[in-house]
Amino acid sequence: MRCSLSSVALSLALLSSAEPLLSPYNVHEKRTHIPSGWSLTRRHDPTSSIPLRFALKQRNIEGVGNHLYDVSHPKSPNYGKHWTAADIVRTFAPSDETVDIVRSWLIASGIDGERVALGRTKGWIQANVTVEEAEQLMNTEYNMYTHMSGKEHVACEVYYLPQHVQPHVDFVTPSVHFDAKLTRRSGGESAAPARDIQRVGFGTGPKTDDTVSGVMDGLEQCNEYITPTCLRTLYGLFYNPVATDKNSFGIVEYTPNSYVQRDLQMFARNYSADLIGKEPNLVWIDSNYAQTTHQDFPYHKESNLDLQYGMSLVTGNQTVSLYQTGDLPEGASFNNFLDAIDGSYCTFDGGDVPPRDPVYPDTRFGGYTGPEACGTVKPAYVISTSYSSNEADLSLFYAERQCTEYAKLGLMGITILYSSGDYGVAGNYGRCLNSSHIPNADGYIFNPTFPGTCPYVTSIGATMVRRTATVLDPETACMDQIYSGGGFSNYFALPEYQKDAVCHYLTNYPPDYPSSIWNSTGTSRAYPDISANGANYVVAVDGEFQRLYGTSCSSPVVGAIFTMINDARLALGKGPIGFVNPTIYSPEFADAFNDITEGNNPGCGTTGFNVTRGWDPVTGLGTLNFTKLLALWSSLP
Ligand SMILES: *[C@@H]1O[C@H](CO)[C@@H](O)[C@H](O)[C@H]1NC(C)=O
Ligand SMILES: *[C@@H]1O[C@H](CO)[C@@H](O)[C@H](O)[C@H]1NC(C)=O
Ligand SMILES: *[C@@H]1O[C@H](CO)[C@@H](O)[C@H](O)[C@H]1NC(C)=O
Ligand SMILES: *[C@@H]1O[C@H](CO)[C@@H](O)[C@H](O)[C@H]1NC(C)=O
Ligand SMILES: *[C@@H]1O[C@H](CO)[C@@H](O)[C@H](O)[C@H]1NC(C)=O
Ligand SMILES: *[C@@H]1O[C@H](CO)[C@@H](O)[C@H](O)[C@H]1NC(C)=O
Ligand SMILES: *[C@@H]1O[C@H](CO)[C@@H](O)[C@H](O)[C@H]1NC(C)=O
Repeated sequence: MRCSLSSVALSLALLSSAEPLLSPYNVHEKRTHIPSGWSLTRRHDPTSSIPLRFALKQRNIEGVGNHLYDVSHPKSPNYGKHWTAADIVRTFAPSDETVDIVRSWLIASGIDGERVALGRTKGWIQANVTVEEAEQLMNTEYNMYTHMSGKEHVACEVYYLPQHVQPHVDFVTPSVHFDAKLTRRSGGESAAPARDIQRVGFGTGPKTDDTVSGVMDGLEQCNEYITPTCLRTLYGLFYNPVATDKNSFGIVEYTPNSYVQRDLQMFARNYSADLIGKEPNLVWIDSNYAQTTHQDFPYHKESNLDLQYGMSLVTGNQTVSLYQTGDLPEGASFNNFLDAIDGSYCTFDGGDVPPRDPVYPDTRFGGYTGPEACGTVKPAYVISTSYSSNEADLSLFYAERQCTEYAKLGLMGITILYSSGDYGVAGNYGRCLNSSHIPNADGYIFNPTFPGTCPYVTSIGATMVRRTATVLDPETACMDQIYSGGGFSNYFALPEYQKDAVCHYLTNYPPDYPSSIWNSTGTSRAYPDISANGANYVVAVDGEFQRLYGTSCSSPVVGAIFTMINDARLALGKGPIGFVNPTIYSPEFADAFNDITEGNNPGCGTTGFNVTRGWDPVTGLGTLNFTKLLALWSSLP
């Protein structure tokens, strides 16, 4: 028996090593369209060389959600027992088998060993090959695409991998991908070249209506003008932090957006005296960008809003880190930021995935010439980002890889917040998906935003005080200038923590839309999770007070509230709250939110979803009651 068993094992081993020659090729990734603004200009020169990068499948990654649940669910015995960065690498780094299979296939295909390199963190394999070799390896054709701006980009329409290699590779670059740089406000058009900055700030991001003057800092006018005083009253945020030296709160901004210290001080003098003389702790990520070139309003409103409100609500005693990401010529993607705070995520020895993510050093005029940030930045406990892109602009593999990175940050005790978008059920710029699932002016299918649809981030929607109401009345969904982003993912499955809430909504208030325009399966991740006021914010921008609107307003407010809860926990000798979703959806927390019951989130020629009792895909669980949340979270281990 023993003998025959081992001979079976042996022959299997032989079979698997012989497999490369027999393994059929399957489609690995395929693109259905060329992003707008780009056109195919020619076949790529077969003799030129390209760095082919293979994103290796991480080990145990399918278990990341369970691990996260284990440290984040309030009923779990391991609640709050967050992991170290070393635990993360040890658990998820690609296996030696994965590395060997991909490397052996390359070598067996005629790419000699010296041209094949494994990244320092083992996440990636790079092969220096000619275009002709790459085409043979992956049974594809590389073309040169040209953007209206003149910028060129190498890509293919589809590529194949051998069946036995496929399970070990997430994706290959360059291949079907165009870039995901956040060069425009709120992620904007994924195909926008970095230097096309003239239009940054238009179309999406916080909306503005008018210049305001002489706004009193009282509670009487919160239905027309929101100030920190209004927000403190709305959510009961009266708290003086005491563990400020242990605590941290980070706000991410993408160049060319930038904050202005003069404006922060003008805001401080009028609405937040304890910020007088205070500055954010500026952390540069792939950036040398002190914003002096573009002094116009559009470049300052997002960052000024985030900093003025984020800093004010945690009081001048709690330092806020500003993660200024990307330089002027290149810009940045969410991945540049993630690389900086987690060395295990960096794509290739500190480099990124060109052309998907901007690569540093950037030798262009005005570029950041330092080495790319890779695990060099210590992440804050709570990180708020008021930018988002369309889920449909990213390939499934790319979105999944980034999403599992958020799970790893959650494992380390970091709370990741993203605004849910300002176009209701539509995507950025109000675009919806056409029948090929591509965002388009003629689209009619709901267009979910990313990373809000990733089940491992907390997605923040927007509410408002009705014009006829006072600050003490219940808020409604935000329906002034913007509509709260919300809906159902087409990529990510419904997470365990959300099942009851979403099921309750779909059962009691079934949306009467055909399943052809939204993901009605009831099996997909729904967003947002919670919300906060997003209308009428009085913000100092370029020496004037303006009113701003958007889920951009809501995210830093939630970030500030969570940061104050962390303060109380740290003062008690406990850890930070980390990934909050399993907690906020738990029955014990059900009463800690102000349920929003009025409004909807129109888009795509519809009135969108309705706000209802309980969770809904417009305002999530509702807004926060700081007093109750503080008591509940202080009592958790
Ligand atoms: C690939 O090419 C680049 C630039 O041509 C070179 O710096 C690098 O060392 C090469 N890597 C390998 C593994 O050959
Ligand atoms: C929060 O909940 C407490 C306790 O129920 C309540 O007294 C308070 O009014 C609520 N605060 C806000 C701002 O709604
Ligand atoms: C900030 O710290 C100072 C000195 O400890 C203290 O007097 C003040 O009350 C604090 N302010 C707030 C808003 O907590
Ligand atoms: C408040 O803002 C106004 C601009 O609207 C400015 O003129 C004024 O100086 C500010 N108040 C203080 C106390 O700085
Ligand atoms: C969807 O939009 C894309 C991009 O504008 C276009 O290429 C594609 O043909 C459209 N699909 C359909 C079915 O109209
Ligand atoms: C709906 O969501 C599920 C789960 O994420 C996904 O498998 C399915 O493909 C989605 N349906 C459509 C039409 O996108
Ligand atoms: C929203 O509520 C209105 C009024 O009750 C109803 O007519 C409509 O069908 C609801 N919309 C959805 C998507 O369920």
